Amino acid sequence: MTTALITGSTAGIGAAFARRLAADGHDLVLVARDTKRLREQATELHDRHGIEAEVLTADLATDEGIEAVAARLSDLRNPVDLLVNNAGFGNKGRYLDVSMADELRMLKVHCEAVLRLTSAAAEAMRSRRRGGIVNVASVAAFVPRGTYGASKAWVVQFTQGAAKDMAGSGVRLMALCPGFVRTEFHERAGMGTDNIPNWMWLDADKLVAAALTDLARGKSLSIPDPRYKALMSVVKVTPRGLLGGLTSRTGRKYGPR
Ligand SMILES: NC(=O)c1ccc[n+]([C@@H]2O[C@H](COP(=O)([O-])OP(=O)(O)OC[C@H]3O[C@@H](n4cnc5c(N)ncnc54)[C@H](OP(=O)(O)O)[C@@H]3O)[C@@H](O)[C@H]2O)c1
Repeated sequence: MTTALITGSTAGIGAAFARRLAADGHDLVLVARDTKRLREQATELHDRHGIEAEVLTADLATDEGIEAVAARLSDLRNPVDLLVNNAGFGNKGRYLDVSMADELRMLKVHCEAVLRLTSAAAEAMRSRRRGGIVNVASVAAFVPRGTYGASKAWVVQFTQGAAKDMAGSGVRLMALCPGFVRTEFHERAGMGTDNIPNWMWLDADKLVAAALTDLARGKSLSIPDPRYKALMSVVKVTPRGLLGGLTSRTGRKYGPR
């Protein structure tokens, strides 16, 4: 029996990872801020799949929250075999519309927490010579898109660099770059989604299945879905100026303050 720890497990992509990994027979450590929701999720996954699901309430925008999860990942008596650093959010508004406190909170959750949790897990996994780490980034990593895109670009570069450094250690690291996925993300960020064409939406369960296949194949970067693979090939050869104009509008329609 192996154990997976998922941050941001209670909704969207994290919940899809939890469903799939539980169905595959993995025990889980579920991490988010809402304890009631975590407990309900743990009970449901235990009842449905007969796995053990541990609840760990933590706010990854705080040092205490990050330290609590890092301590769980470092516990060699209860090893974690797969870490999914998934917790994340969008801020409402463009650059300078967002408060400095919210910008820094995003960097804490998307970058500092990912760095510290990846490192705690990688160290423990290296000592056992096996393990996997999936860091959820975004295709926004490849386009100019405010602090969100910049933080996800960091996740991609960091993860691919660490994957190279850990080659041969038995520990796999992979950055996962989804396109638009129907989750609670956009509503939580107060973003309108009516200017996002239907074909751009991905299904969270299919995304997770593709991501786990890519991890098993030893990829360090996963862009699931042929539509986004094709789009990202175009992005690579598009001038940055033109790219910024196009991508800063898609999916960035904000509701009233
Ligand atoms: N949806 C998309 O279109 C999309 C596209 C590309 C990438 N992504 C990335 O995918 C990841 C998951 O997004 P999603 O769309 O699934 O979002 P979601 O549906 O809003 O779920 C976010 C999850 O993260 C948890 N969370 C948020 N802030 C947290 C914090 N400070 N500490 C601990 N947990 C926290 C939430 O639970 P609590 O509120 O209880 O803490 C929830 O479980 C994010 O990293 C996001 O950037 C999403």
